[in-house]
Amino acid sequence: MEPNQQKIILESERLLFRLHTLDDMDDFCAMEQDPEVRRYVGGKPRTRAEAEDRFINGPMQPHEGFWAMWATVLKADDQYIGRCGLYPHYGQNGEIIAGDASMGLYIAYPYWRNGFATEAGHALISFGFNKHHLKRIVTMIQVGNDASVHVIEKLGFTLTQTEHSGNRSFYHYVLENN
Ligand SMILES: CC(C)(COP(=O)(O)OP(=O)(O)OC[C@H]1O[C@@H](n2cnc3c(N)ncnc32)[C@H](O)[C@@H]1OP(=O)(O)O)[C@@H](O)C(=O)NCCC(=O)NCCS
Repeated sequence: MEPNQQKIILESERLLFRLHTLDDMDDFCAMEQDPEVRRYVGGKPRTRAEAEDRFINGPMQPHEGFWAMWATVLKADDQYIGRCGLYPHYGQNGEIIAGDASMGLYIAYPYWRNGFATEAGHALISFGFNKHHLKRIVTMIQVGNDASVHVIEKLGFTLTQTEHSGNRSFYHYVLENN
C-alpha cells in the first residue's frame, strides 16, 4: 500500500470512495476501537493492534484491482468518515461466487444519521449493477442492528433467511439486478 495513493473508485453527491492509504490507519483504527461502531459487528471493540492487523489483512485491500471496502471521504473537507464497498461473496467452500458481491457500510459514529450510508449504498448498487453487471449484491446484518436493517430495506434489499450462529443471529439480505 502506497502512503499517498489516492485512487478514486467512485463518487456520489457528498462522498468519494477511494483505496485506503496508510494515512487512513488512525481513522480506521479509531472506528474499530469504538464500541458504538462495533456493537453489532463483532460485538466488542478491537484493540489498536487488532485493528491494525485488520487494516492490513482485511477487505480494505483490493481484490483483483478494485473490489474492496473503500475509504469513504467527505468531498467538502476530505474527512475520512468510514468505509463502504463491494467485495467478493465467498461460498461455503471459500470459492468466489461469480456475478455476486457483498456490500458493507461502516460510518464513524460522529457522522451517523446524516444519510451517508444510504447515499453510499445507492452509489455502490449503481456501480455494481450498471458498471460491473453484477447479478446480485448480498449483505449480512446481525439481528438487533436496526439502523442497518432500515438502510438496507430502504435500498430495496429482500430478507432471504435468518441464520443462527452460537448466541447471535444474522439476517441475509439480497438485491437482484433485474
Ligand atoms: C448502520 C450504519 C452504516 C448507518 O449509517 P448512517 O450513515 O447513520 O445511515 P443513514 O443516515 O443513511 O440512515 C440511517 C437510517 O436509520 C434510521 N435509524 C437510525 N437508528 C435507528 C435504529 N436504532 N432503529 C431503526 N432505525 C434507525 C435513521 O433514522 C435513518 O433512517 P431515515 O433516513 O429513514 O430517517 C451506521 O450506523 C454504522 O456504521 N454502524 C456500525 C457498523 C455497522 O453496523 N454496519 C452495518 C454492518 S451490516
